[in-house]
Amino acid sequence: MKKLLRFFAYALATLALLILLGFLYIQIKGIPSYDTVTIDYHATPTPERIDRGRKLVGSLCIGCHINREAGNLGGQFMPDAPQEFGKIYSQNITGDKTYGIGEWTDAEIVYLLRTGIKRDGKYAPPYMAKLPFLSDEDMASIIVFLRSDDPLVAPSPIADTPCEPSFLTKFLSNTLFKPMPYPSAAIPMPDTSNTVEWGRYMAYNMECFSCHSADFKSNDFQHPEKSAGFFGGGNKPLNLEGEVMLTPNLTPDKETGIGNWTKQQFIAAVKSGKVDGQEALRYPMNPYVRLSDEEVGAIYDYLRTIPAISNKVERSGL
Ligand code: HEC
Ligand code: HEC
Repeated sequence: MKKLLRFFAYALATLALLILLGFLYIQIKGIPSYDTVTIDYHATPTPERIDRGRKLVGSLCIGCHINREAGNLGGQFMPDAPQEFGKIYSQNITGDKTYGIGEWTDAEIVYLLRTGIKRDGKYAPPYMAKLPFLSDEDMASIIVFLRSDDPLVAPSPIADTPCEPSFLTKFLSNTLFKPMPYPSAAIPMPDTSNTVEWGRYMAYNMECFSCHSADFKSNDFQHPEKSAGFFGGGNKPLNLEGEVMLTPNLTPDKETGIGNWTKQQFIAAVKSGKVDGQEALRYPMNPYVRLSDEEVGAIYDYLRTIPAISNKVERSGL
């Protein structure tokens, strides 16, 4: 009997030691690194691409990369990133050669946006957007715009503060979170005459699903529709004061989702932040002022086709 007890005591001590070593290993290793870019890529600037890129960057990247004092994409502390991920700072993505991405090649930028692998090989955890579904043409527009002299991205010497990822982020980045494969085939633009397909394209690429599903941790960025509680709301981004702002259910459920909303109400809410004259949006959901009625209407048509989820989300702080 005593022998057996001693055996268990040793086994437990060994297990505890292994867990401690694993913990230390991940804590010291930090965010993993991968092979750096080997692709050949160049985006040719055209005025149409600059315009399109302004709209995409101004809808998609601005929410995180805005520097609120400078009014450009100089990056800053992101108070809305859930604290469990650590202290998160979006980086300077203006054309500045020292602090921004002026020295990055087009290939390095596209590789990061597609796979999540940065110029130095480090993996960018899910608090940085990845765009596996964006069409090649829209991708080129984003890159051409980032290179332009638009005030949002003109070189601005704002020094970066590196992120301080939490142990959870490091752990997940060594286990669950993996870079995405670089696309092996061309990605065409969606067929805009099919509003459901177009709306899906927008809902995926504008990352609406990322905030409006159950939890950032269970989002599936490669198969968004497999994210837990897809568009059923209840995720917990923070506002600028660090308070939880629960996300509403956008599925067609009539009681708890937006099943009773008209397309006009939806467009007004997303573009101007108002429904029937009442404030419908607060930070971190900024009105998508640059999207057209047709684009937001297409998102509505798509949301009509996804499974309804019954999940009542109370509006935060009201
Ligand atoms: C949800 C917030 C979020 C969104 C949306 C987002 N980013 Fe980021 N981005 C970040 C964070 C946070 C980092 C820092 C990541 C890190 O430290 O690994 C980052 C890093 C980067 C970097 C690397 C910069 C460097 O100096 O290392 C580039 C380039 C970049 N983002 C471009 C973009 C572009 C272009 C878009 C729009 C298509 C975009 N980001 C959308 C949060 C975001
Ligand atoms: C950064 C996280 C985030 C992103 C990205 C985001 N939302 Fe939201 N959204 C929210 C939050 C939080 C609220 C609730 C705000 C409040 O309570 O005032 C909200 C509210 C809404 C509402 C109002 C719903 C209601 O029942 O009142 C609609 C509609 C909506 N979002 C649509 C969208 C669409 C479409 C997209 C993509 C184009 C999107 N959201 C992207 C966080 C986000």
